[in-house]
Amino acid sequence: MSGSMGERAMLDWSDSVRNAPVAANTGVAPAPARVTIDEKAMINCRADVNQLLPLKYRWAWEKYLAGCNNHWMPTEVSMQADIALWKSRDGLTADERQAIKRNLGFFAASESLVANNIVLAIYRHLTNPECRQYLLRQAFEEAVHTHTFQYIVESLGLDEGELFNMYREVPSISRKAEWAIEHTRHLDNPDFKTGTVEADRAFLKDLIAFYVIFEGMWFYTGFAQILSLGRRNKMVGIAEQYQYILRDESIHLNFGIDVINQIKLENPELWSAAFQEDAREMVRRAAELEADYARDTMPRGFLGLNAGVCEQYMHFIANRRCAQIGLKPVFPETENPFPWMSEAMDLKKEKNFFETRVIEYQSGGALAWE
Ligand SMILES: [Fe+2]
Ligand SMILES: [Fe+2]
Repeated sequence: MSGSMGERAMLDWSDSVRNAPVAANTGVAPAPARVTIDEKAMINCRADVNQLLPLKYRWAWEKYLAGCNNHWMPTEVSMQADIALWKSRDGLTADERQAIKRNLGFFAASESLVANNIVLAIYRHLTNPECRQYLLRQAFEEAVHTHTFQYIVESLGLDEGELFNMYREVPSISRKAEWAIEHTRHLDNPDFKTGTVEADRAFLKDLIAFYVIFEGMWFYTGFAQILSLGRRNKMVGIAEQYQYILRDESIHLNFGIDVINQIKLENPELWSAAFQEDAREMVRRAAELEADYARDTMPRGFLGLNAGVCEQYMHFIANRRCAQIGLKPVFPETENPFPWMSEAMDLKKEKNFFETRVIEYQSGGALAWE
């Protein structure tokens, strides 16, 4: 971690002073040096974190640009068809209603858990300005996602207390939230500092827990449930919002994977055989928690989805995530039961979105549509 302001040399904006030769034997401290690429590092970096340039990790900057290019707001999506269907007496089965509510309840709190982990735990310890630039963008996107659930609750007239408390009141959701909070708890403790092998490994585990597992595995069953409804023309507004969330999340996940792999590269001592086994155990346990959640949200199955198929999907995703961070697979080889999910991620409908989206943002006035 970089030192406090007190430990750093004073900032100096004058080129003449900075470039002046240091007088020998005068005892005058040299002006602060400009940051070079070689000094930049993912964690425990002592170079000035206020100097974005020169860029070292172009992949982080490119993800920041990609995130900005994907900007959207939930209120740009019409909820009329969803409202009509939700209020109709027999448009949805009881099982579908339960799956939708649990799904929304899981995401409503999860977006905040992820956002808080970024701001309170990850940001402080990732000592690189281009990565922090992306984290700031990601934090905003998580706020947009939380906004989405507020907008859905308001549009459909759902019980907000029921939805936003599910992560504390529905055991299969609570167990996932508790598991994740356990990994972030010690990191957002103000006394936590990276810089020892033990602390750096705790930081890596937080990254795996949130990027690879929370956003990279658990979100995907939720996406599959809602997109499966959307494919059958049900809750199409929510399905469209989930497609935009999925597009954002796939960048979050890929950023997390790049971060983990870069930290491994710079700190190979952290990635011991024992650590890799711990990480695989985390993935295995997370897939179990997800299977419980799938059984709980879809006790009888719906729309061609059921707990068994979702568990197979989770195993497929888990193995893929392991490969992405260089771990051996956790489950026997399995096929992707939802090949259409990769199509959904490509967001072929992007064109439709931009044809109907708000083209002008105005403050305090009416919105103009194209
Ligand atoms: Fe999110
Ligand atoms: Fe995310």
